[in-house]
Amino acid sequence: MTIAALIVAAGRGRRAGGGLAKQWRPLAGRRVIDWTLQVFRDHPAIGPIALVLAEADRPAWAAFAGQPGLVLAPGGEDRAGSVRNGLAALAALPGPGPRRVLIHDAARPCLRPALIDAVIAALEAAPAAAPGLAVTDALWTGAEGRVTGTRDRAGLYAAQTPQGFDFAAIRAAHAGHPGGAADDVEVARAAGLGVAIVPGDPDNIKITRQEDFARAERILGGVADHSGRAERNLGKAMDIRLGNGFDVHRFGPGDHVTLCGVAVPHDRGLQGHSDADVGMHAVTDAIYGALAAGDIGRHFPPSDPQWKGADSAVFLRHAAGLAADRGYAIANIDCTLICERPKIGPHAAAMTARMAAILGLDPGRVSIKATTSERLGFTGRGEGIAAMATAALVAA
Ligand code: CTP
Ligand code: MG
Repeated sequence: MTIAALIVAAGRGRRAGGGLAKQWRPLAGRRVIDWTLQVFRDHPAIGPIALVLAEADRPAWAAFAGQPGLVLAPGGEDRAGSVRNGLAALAALPGPGPRRVLIHDAARPCLRPALIDAVIAALEAAPAAAPGLAVTDALWTGAEGRVTGTRDRAGLYAAQTPQGFDFAAIRAAHAGHPGGAADDVEVARAAGLGVAIVPGDPDNIKITRQEDFARAERILGGVADHSGRAERNLGKAMDIRLGNGFDVHRFGPGDHVTLCGVAVPHDRGLQGHSDADVGMHAVTDAIYGALAAGDIGRHFPPSDPQWKGADSAVFLRHAAGLAADRGYAIANIDCTLICERPKIGPHAAAMTARMAAILGLDPGRVSIKATTSERLGFTGRGEGIAAMATAALVAA
């Protein structure tokens, strides 16, 4: 027994405004229509899918043409007309034709597979079934900005899609309907079909006005409970990456050390191929680490004489640039310098400011702090300075 899907996407989206009809507009990294279509494509119980597109959107049809399991149909004068055309396209498919059909608004891209399951399950016991949300807000009537009356909300539901039907029954119901129906449940009822209500999903919103895009984006970005979508979401909005870095430089002769880009007077210097900025190196390696892109030594080999005495800002800029190239923004940096002397506290603010400037970050996202090692170990004996750092990157 085949269950078909019918997605209506031929409206003009006038209430959403903004030129391009809402189903073609981007949402959390892809178009609204792509999100909606994907849910039905991925659902194991769904067979053929009819996609109803407006004649005015003809240039967009080509991308869907010839896709297996997908049949295109032209939009109608109103939503019901579009549904009728989609039903006709499904009926014309070779073979015995679908037994049941789920009719869905392209403008509801946050649909979860579980709602499809629930509608299909309810169709076992009824010729029609659709999700509804019991109204919980008080209801008023109003005119010209004033409340003119109240209504009892008992027994009232807000209708959602997908609405599921026996295929032959809904086709006959549409053929016999005079027009003007708000949805297919209204058409089915006019033909005498009993319609079961399945609990709707508050996240299954219909993008109607401009502000609904932000809401839908939040819903699609949230991984929790979005089974079947978790992976895609992790690949987009929730892609957070952490990296750590650790570095050590030995003391040698000198009158200052360079730490996190700041020259700090000291009775010794730090030895190294570059300027031996141990803090900046640890942060740089943390960023490379978050990107799984090796370490400073790989990008700037110590064997290469051009990096002798180099300002380590070159390395840090490179790591930050690599993050940006790969589509990541640096969310924050945390760096701990480990030494008995020099004292870091008086210079920490300057170090933060310098690092933030190189990284192009707000100083509130850059933490530079220090600790001693209680005179233990090589740092405790004053043989060198160590630094460790963490970087958090988020997909921009
Ligand atoms: N729809 C359709 N054909 C029409 C009208 C609407 O396929 N002639 C589709 C829309 O593309 C949408 C769904 O029906 O996926 C629900 O309609 P609605 O939210 O009203 O969308 P629009 O009609 O596009 O928006 P508006 O009413 O604001 O113009
Ligand atoms: Mg409309």
